[in-house]
Amino acid sequence: MQLKHIQPVYFSPTHTSAKIVTMIAEGMDIMVNTEIDLTYPSADQKTIPSDTLAIIGVPTYAGRIAPTALERLQKIKGDNTPAIIVVLYGNRDYEDALLELRNSVKQLGFFPVAGGAFIGEHSYSTEQFPTAAGRPDVRDLQIAAEFGKNIIKQLDQYTDIKELPVLDVKGNFPYKENKPKTPATPITIDELCTQCQYCIEICPVETIELKEEIVSDPEVCIKCCACVKECPNGARVFNTPFSEFLFKNFHDRKEPELFDLTR
Ligand SMILES: Cc1cc2nc3c(=O)[nH]c(=O)nc-3n(C[C@H](O)[C@H](O)[C@H](O)COP(=O)(O)O)c2cc1C
Ligand code: SF4
Ligand code: SF4
Repeated sequence: MQLKHIQPVYFSPTHTSAKIVTMIAEGMDIMVNTEIDLTYPSADQKTIPSDTLAIIGVPTYAGRIAPTALERLQKIKGDNTPAIIVVLYGNRDYEDALLELRNSVKQLGFFPVAGGAFIGEHSYSTEQFPTAAGRPDVRDLQIAAEFGKNIIKQLDQYTDIKELPVLDVKGNFPYKENKPKTPATPITIDELCTQCQYCIEICPVETIELKEEIVSDPEVCIKCCACVKECPNGARVFNTPFSEFLFKNFHDRKEPELFDLTR
């Protein structure tokens, strides 16, 4: 198949999905377009043409695609456009997220040709209770680049997308049920906060405000922990019992799982 461009697309509050998508693209010897970053509400609508290979990456939240990612993905459309689909998860499980992503991108006009579930530092990982800290690491990134290279080789064997078989990935349908949202949000340690307002800029759902102090709305917050991980002064803290639970129960290193048209 003649591919002219690679189009990275992601929703990635703490950047792990972005890193893997970028690395898969780097493994290919084809011109890479500027990424479509759906993390912030400002992303424009876009149709990706069929001579372009999209690489679409999103995080797993509670075994499904992060709901805000799914909502923002509706801004992009394919035109029988080949796509590599990627989910990131925090070393617990990705359950139905990759299957949901495969089915969702199909509805948007893409043709999934390969998929991967990669491990990223868990949003709730802390210094005291680390879970998948520092991932994706060098090994994960090598696997991602190699994966990209292999997919291009596989696609070279076909002349038309219509010849390609349906991509099979792990997951169940009906998907795992979404539990009702439990409102919660990080707190600000005022003594550490310099009111630089950086967290306001990077919150994917624009729910952080500077009143007398930095505050966020628990009803709107998606608990992505971008503000916690990126505050330069460590002034945002999300206290959740999940940090310790994850540390105790999902300590053993998991490895990326890859799905392509040969599997
Ligand atoms: C609300 C929420 C739910 C999550 N649910 C899961 C999960 O079910 N399984 C898992 O392994 N990781 C889970 N994670 C961790 C993220 O999937 C993981 O940290 C991912 O790498 C974040 O992607 P990003 O860096 O692109 O934002 C969850 C994180 C959040 C914030
Ligand atoms: S990024 Fe940190 S220091 Fe800056 S305003 Fe937000 S909480 Fe305060
Ligand atoms: S306030 Fe909530 S949604 Fe906004 S960056 Fe922080 S954790 Fe994410």
